[in-house]
Amino acid sequence: MKILIVNGPNLNLLGQREPGIYGRSSFDDYLQKLRERYPDIEIDYYQSNIEGELIDKLQEAGFLADPVYDGIVLNAGAYTHTSIALQDCIRSLKSPVIEVHISNVHAREEFRHHSYLSCACKGVICGFGLDSYRLAIEAWKTI
Ligand code: DQA
Repeated sequence: MKILIVNGPNLNLLGQREPGIYGRSSFDDYLQKLRERYPDIEIDYYQSNIEGELIDKLQEAGFLADPVYDGIVLNAGAYTHTSIALQDCIRSLKSPVIEVHISNVHAREEFRHHSYLSCACKGVICGFGLDSYRLAIEAWKTI
């Protein structure tokens, strides 16, 4: 099984950015643990702060008739709440996408309650800290 994790804007700062909300671990450290925990799953990773680059990567990963990845785990950060372009992109993909969030967006500011992406995704996992990514991988194992 091959899975791609895609992180959007400001998620390169995990561990340093608002640690009370997003925790103290960098994503690289977390990813290493995730790969050790799932040695049979190939987990690739991409992060960008730029909306168009996220779309380019998702298209490259999941649009082909015979897509590269069995599944994509996407945390689009703040683009979740703004991006119709990302929604259109997800709709066009052959690889299914699980939307994840580290924080419980529904327990935060109202502008975070709406996602433009959820309606195009297979499912949504949020609020479990970095463990949200592991739970998404568990979901891929059972789908
Ligand atoms: C986030 C939640 C978003 O509202 C926020 O803009 C982020 C991170 C999360 O993982 O909790 O950048 O996607």
